[in-house]
Amino acid sequence: MDQIPTHVTPRVEPTRGFGSLTSELGLLYGCDYNPEQWSREVWVEDVALMRAAGVNLVTVGVFSWALLEPQPGEFDMDWLGDVLDLLHAGGIAVDLATPSASPPAWMGVRWPETRAVTADGVRLSHGSRNHFCPSSSVYRERSLAIAGALVDRFASHPAVRMWHIGNEFGQVCHCDQCGAAFQTWLRARYGTLDELNRAWGTTFWSQCYFDWTEIIPPRAAPYLVNPTQTLDFRRFTSDQLLAMYTEQRDLVRTGSSGACVTTNFMGFHHLNDYWRWASEVDVIADDTYGDPADSDSPVRQALAHDLMRGLAGGAPWLLMEQAVSAVPWRGHNLPKTPGQTRLDSLRAIARGADGSCFFQWRQSAFGSERFHSALVPHAGPDTRLHRTVRAHGAELRRLDRVVGARVAARVALVFDWSSWWAAEEPAGPSTRLRVMDQMIAYYRPLWRAGIAVDIVSPGGDLAGYDLVVAPQLFLVDDPDARNLRGVVERGGVLVLGPFSGVADADAHIRLGRFPVQFADLVGGSGEEYCPLPDAGLRVRSAELGDFTATVWGERLRLDDGEAVATFTGDLDGSPAVLRRRAASGGEAWYVGTVPPQSVLDAIMGRAAASAGVVGTLGPGPLPDDVEAVQRGDVLFLLNAADEERVVALPGVHRDLLTAVRYNGAVLLGPQDAVALVAETA
Ligand code: GAL
Repeated sequence: MDQIPTHVTPRVEPTRGFGSLTSELGLLYGCDYNPEQWSREVWVEDVALMRAAGVNLVTVGVFSWALLEPQPGEFDMDWLGDVLDLLHAGGIAVDLATPSASPPAWMGVRWPETRAVTADGVRLSHGSRNHFCPSSSVYRERSLAIAGALVDRFASHPAVRMWHIGNEFGQVCHCDQCGAAFQTWLRARYGTLDELNRAWGTTFWSQCYFDWTEIIPPRAAPYLVNPTQTLDFRRFTSDQLLAMYTEQRDLVRTGSSGACVTTNFMGFHHLNDYWRWASEVDVIADDTYGDPADSDSPVRQALAHDLMRGLAGGAPWLLMEQAVSAVPWRGHNLPKTPGQTRLDSLRAIARGADGSCFFQWRQSAFGSERFHSALVPHAGPDTRLHRTVRAHGAELRRLDRVVGARVAARVALVFDWSSWWAAEEPAGPSTRLRVMDQMIAYYRPLWRAGIAVDIVSPGGDLAGYDLVVAPQLFLVDDPDARNLRGVVERGGVLVLGPFSGVADADAHIRLGRFPVQFADLVGGSGEEYCPLPDAGLRVRSAELGDFTATVWGERLRLDDGEAVATFTGDLDGSPAVLRRRAASGGEAWYVGTVPPQSVLDAIMGRAAASAGVVGTLGPGPLPDDVEAVQRGDVLFLLNAADEERVVALPGVHRDLLTAVRYNGAVLLGPQDAVALVAETA
């Protein structure tokens, strides 16, 4: 292999973190910019149009590797230098990407082992993107080399204010190099083979390992693969991608002037345990592609945004990518209305983002994403879409006072990647019980009530939360169980959803009446998981009203709690919903089924009331489709409905976006939003 430099010259310059960037530029507004698809004349026009649209940050170079390094070790960076000069002259800051998401064809041809292998043993080809193996030493060294060359050349370029490592880390590879790295990871986790054999339960089906080299990633196999092996491989894959990120980040940090370094997350992405990533990025950045055809999209986007705020520990985060209108990858892609574009962007700002960026600036004329919307469409700037872009850029400037402001939440929703992975392994009681379905179902009533929610990890600091909800926490280790129990012990309210507290960190089932770690807390315990027939099962409840439960049941028994709802039929007499008030004044709920949303709304309403938690606008319901979020001293009201909505709001408020004053009530137009500050009457 050629000698390649993997270090850069350290520079000492003042720190320029995300906070100093936003305090200088205000809310960030921008996009991915792929100038390599366009001529130099277009670049000049682009900068002029960006300025007119209020764009102040662009991400450059995400997919530029082949042009930056046309042959191994031969760099051609002058064109990028010209782009950065032009952007800087236009007053536009740059988030400079390392291009490792899409290695050039020469790499995979010359070093086939840099290409990922599927579980079926197929080595992926170039011709698309993201075909790399995250464990390939050649690929990793080459990634560091191009990153180092970019840092050496551009770290002190005044346009470069942020670094963007790779793009949407989310690859999985089953090759032998990954196998060897997996073995190393397992040695670090377990120390001895005996411990690994215990954790993996390898006496089952004669799977015992007598040498580390016998261990492989889960690959095509005749039948079900060991669930703990699969779980650990997921953990390993996330850590391996993180290691790729951190080695590039460290290189950039060493050689750059203190600009913040990050990469773009993908919401509740199945491949990455973002709790482990969160502290490694200088700013949490996320890509959210809400589906304009999905009426649930506002709730889903809000949940993802609240996750980002949780990952950021409440600090501001950045919406790195969203679509300004249609995407090309959904089969049937509806464009967004101007109202949806604006609402989606403002939703992120309301929920703690200090910037709203898009994919991408100019709509590609060629390539796989030529039907992906962009801030400048094929038809050019004289379009409804581009006028929306300009108007939104202008209105964001009126919101600069929210920069750095926080959203205060008294409710936490608990989410854990290992638990998600383990809960959805095949060969469980039902594949119909899905963790994300439960997350959204428990989140929805809080969203509707305008109650601020932080997404937290089960081991996170729960001290500030009066209501903690774990919609489906299958896997809970003992310290996390103590953490959750602590909520009730200090007088708070804990709600546990179905199939929670089932397994330990190795995904071994906890023996005894379930949920073993919480049965005393919820005042009841179970002995059998009973997925329900398609017709569901009737449940009696004086408190909630009778209802039909679907998908999931559990054979529970009442101990010293209350049965808030009780199954009939095959589970006759078994509590479906348990509650127990503790001596501390705290309260624990266990919902051992999937109630209709309206019943879950009532359960969450009661739990919130017990915790003394009310919505941003008080205890009453918000009008349908209206979202209310208080960020700092700004109250955001967003109406996703196609009709007007009136929101009662005592006092006089001024809308920062339009300067309109409201006294006692706010009239929201269809797909409209306001950002209100209180005024003394
Ligand atoms: C993102 C990706 C972008 C672009 C976009 C299209 O996942 O980071 O590069 O492909 O999707 O929606």
